[in-house]
Amino acid sequence: MKMTARALLAAGTLLAHAAGPARAATAQVFSPPASSYDAESANYTGASNGTLQNGPVVPGKVFDRFVQIWFENTDFETAASSPTFQNLSQQGVLFTSYYAMTHPSEPNYIAVAGGDFFGNAVDDFRAIPMNISSIVDLLEQKNISWASYQESMPYDGFTGYNYTSFDYIAGSGDYTYYVRKHNPLIIFDSVSNVTDRALRIRNFNDFARDVNASAIPQWSFITPNLVNDGHDTDIDFVSQWIQFWLNPILADTRFNDNRTIILLTFDETETYSINNRIWTLALGGGLPAQLKNTTDDTFYTHYSCLSTVEANWGLGSLGRGDTNASLNNVFEFVANVTGWKNNGVSGSSPDIPLLNITGTIPGPLNPEYYVPFSAPNTSAVGAGGGPVFQGPGLNTALTAASQPAPVNLTAKGLDTPWAQNPGYDYPDGTQVYTSTPSPTGSASAGTRSWTRGEGRVAMVPALALLGLVVGPLLVL
Ligand SMILES: *[C@@H]1O[C@H](CO)[C@@H](O)[C@H](O)[C@H]1NC(C)=O
Ligand SMILES: *[C@@H]1O[C@H](CO)[C@@H](O)[C@H](O)[C@H]1NC(C)=O
Ligand SMILES: *[C@@H]1O[C@H](CO)[C@@H](O)[C@H](O)[C@H]1NC(C)=O
Ligand SMILES: *[C@@H]1O[C@H](CO)[C@@H](O)[C@H](O)[C@H]1NC(C)=O
Ligand SMILES: *[C@@H]1O[C@H](CO)[C@@H](O)[C@H](O)[C@H]1NC(C)=O
Ligand SMILES: *[C@@H]1O[C@H](CO)[C@@H](O)[C@H](O)[C@H]1NC(C)=O
Ligand SMILES: *[C@@H]1O[C@H](CO)[C@@H](O)[C@H](O)[C@H]1NC(C)=O
Ligand SMILES: *[C@@H]1O[C@H](CO)[C@@H](O)[C@H](O)[C@H]1NC(C)=O
Ligand SMILES: *[C@@H]1O[C@H](CO)[C@@H](O)[C@H](O)[C@H]1NC(C)=O
Ligand SMILES: *[C@@H]1O[C@H](CO)[C@@H](O)[C@H](O)[C@H]1NC(C)=O
Ligand SMILES: *[C@@H]1O[C@H](CO)[C@@H](O)[C@H](O)[C@H]1NC(C)=O
Ligand SMILES: *[C@@H]1O[C@H](CO)[C@@H](O)[C@H](O)[C@H]1NC(C)=O
Repeated sequence: MKMTARALLAAGTLLAHAAGPARAATAQVFSPPASSYDAESANYTGASNGTLQNGPVVPGKVFDRFVQIWFENTDFETAASSPTFQNLSQQGVLFTSYYAMTHPSEPNYIAVAGGDFFGNAVDDFRAIPMNISSIVDLLEQKNISWASYQESMPYDGFTGYNYTSFDYIAGSGDYTYYVRKHNPLIIFDSVSNVTDRALRIRNFNDFARDVNASAIPQWSFITPNLVNDGHDTDIDFVSQWIQFWLNPILADTRFNDNRTIILLTFDETETYSINNRIWTLALGGGLPAQLKNTTDDTFYTHYSCLSTVEANWGLGSLGRGDTNASLNNVFEFVANVTGWKNNGVSGSSPDIPLLNITGTIPGPLNPEYYVPFSAPNTSAVGAGGGPVFQGPGLNTALTAASQPAPVNLTAKGLDTPWAQNPGYDYPDGTQVYTSTPSPTGSASAGTRSWTRGEGRVAMVPALALLGLVVGPLLVL
C-alpha cells in the first residue's frame, strides 16, 4: 500500500512513534546511492560480507540465470506511459496480460516465493513455518545457486520488520529504506531459520561485490529500497534509478550474459478498484532476438515466475499456485521450448479471474478468516515435471479439502499465530536469538524495527556489545 508523504506524516503523528523516521513533506528528488551499479556505498547501509559462493552452473533449457527485479504499486498504464519504460520495452518482450495476485504488497511477495499468499491481506510482520516450502527448496534440490539482494538491508539474513538509516537523499536525518514485507524469502522460516540460506539474503554492497566477482547466482530476487522501487516515490523516480542502475548493468556480461533473463515487474497496481494488471517485461541476453520489442498477451501471474523457472530447470513443484492451471501459464518463449501446454487464456479474456480481491480470502495468515496451513497438493504435476516438494515436518494428511471452517481470530482479540516474531537473527553472520518469541495476539508482536545504532541498545547485552563492533561498519 502506498502512502503519500503527507499521509505518512499524519500516520506517524497518530502512532506517536518516537523512533520514526523524519519524512519530507515534499516530493523526493532521486539521488544516486552509489557511484555506479557495481560500486559499494555507505548509502547501502550494511558492509559487504564477502563474495557469494556458488557451485557449478546448472544449465537450463532456455536460460541459465533468472533475475527478478520488483518495483512497487503502479498501474500498467502509468508504467507504459513512462519514456524510460517505453525505451526498456524495445529491448524485451512486454507481457500485456500479467497480473498480481491480490493487495497489498506483502502477500504478492509471499506468493512469488511460495506459490500462495495464504490469505494474507496486510503488510504486518509474518513468519511462515518451516514445513512450508518455497522456490529455494526446489532450486537447492538441483544445486542451482540463488540469492536475494535487498537494498538498504543492514546485514545478511536480517530478520527485522524494517530498518532506518541515514537519509542519503536529504543529506541529514534518518529514513526507513528497508522493509521485511518486500523481502519474500526472509518471511519463510524454512529459509530464514537455516543459517546457510539466511545469509544468501544479501544487501547491495554484497551485490556490488558479487558482480565484480562474477558471482551473481542463477536465480535472484532484487528489491530496490523504498524510494528506488517507487513505494514512497513515483514512476519518474524509478525511471531515474533505472537510468542509474539498470541501463548500464544490462551491458555488463558479469550480470547479463547471453543466457540471462531479467524480469521487471511491479508487486501490484496502485489502484485497487481495477483488476491487478501490471507492466512486466522479460529482457536480457538470453531472450531470443526476434522477441525484442514485441508483446505477448498470454495471461500470466506472479505464479508464472515459479512455473517458468520449474520448466526451465526441470524442477519439482510446490503443489500450490505454481501447479494451478488457471494461474500458472509458463512464459511462452520457455513453454514452447520445454513443450509445456498453457491454458490458452490471453488478452482481456473473461476467464481471467479477479485478482484484486483482498481481505476475504481464508488462510493461515488471515486472522479474520483463519484456517491452519495445509499441505500442498502432493499429486500435482507442474511445468518442471518433478515431484511436489515435501519438506521435513510436513503433515500431508492436512489437505486443503480437510480444512476446518475459517475462524475469526480478530473477534477473539487474537492475531494469526504467524504474526509472531520467531526471534532469531544474524547480526554477525551467526544465528542468535534476539528476543523470546512474542506471544500470539500481542498487537506489537514481532514488529521489531531498528534505527541505525539505537536498536542494538534494546538487545541483550552480548548483542549490544557486538553492536559496538558492527556499528561502525554500518555508519561507514
Ligand atoms: C550517497 O548518496 C549521496 C546522494 O546521492 C551522494 O552524494 C554520495 O556520493 C553517495 N555516497 C557514495 C559513497 O556513493
Ligand atoms: C534507452 O535505452 C538505452 C539502452 O539501454 C540506454 O542506453 C538509454 O540510456 C536509455 N534511455 C533512457 C531515457 O532510458
Ligand atoms: C548437489 O550437490 C551435492 C554435493 O555436491 C551432490 O552430492 C548432489 O548429487 C548434487 N545434486 C544434484 C541434483 O546434482
Ligand atoms: C554466449 O557467450 C559465451 C561467453 O561469452 C560465448 O562463448 C558464446 O559464443 C555466446 N553464444 C552466443 C550464441 O552468442
Ligand atoms: C476489482 O476490479 C474490478 C474491475 O475489473 C472491479 O469491478 C471491482 O470492483 C474491483 N474489486 C475491488 C474489491 O475493488
Ligand atoms: C520498436 O518498435 C517500434 C514500432 O512498434 C519502432 O518504432 C521502434 O523503432 C522499434 N525499436 C527498435 C529498437 O527496434
Ligand atoms: C510459440 O509457439 C507458437 C505455436 O507454434 C507460436 O505461434 C508462437 O509465436 C511461439 N511463441 C514464441 C514466444 O516463441
Ligand atoms: C507444520 O508443522 C507444525 C509443527 O511445527 C504442525 O503443527 C503443522 O500441522 C504442520 N503443518 C503442515 C501442513 O504440515
Ligand atoms: C472479525 O471480527 C472483527 C472484530 O470483531 C470484525 O471487525 C470483523 O468484521 C470480523 N470479520 C469477519 C469476516 O467476520
Ligand atoms: C529454528 O530452527 C531451530 C533448529 O535449528 C529450531 O529449534 C527452532 O524451533 C526453529 N524455529 C522456528 C520458529 O521454526
Ligand atoms: C559473513 O558471513 C559469514 C558466513 O558466510 C560469517 O561467518 C560472518 O560472521 C559474516 N560476517 C558479518 C559481518 O556478517
Ligand atoms: C517500521 O517499524 C515500526 C515498528 O513496528 C513501525 O512503527 C513503523 O511504521 C515502520 N515503518 C515502516 C516504514 O514500515
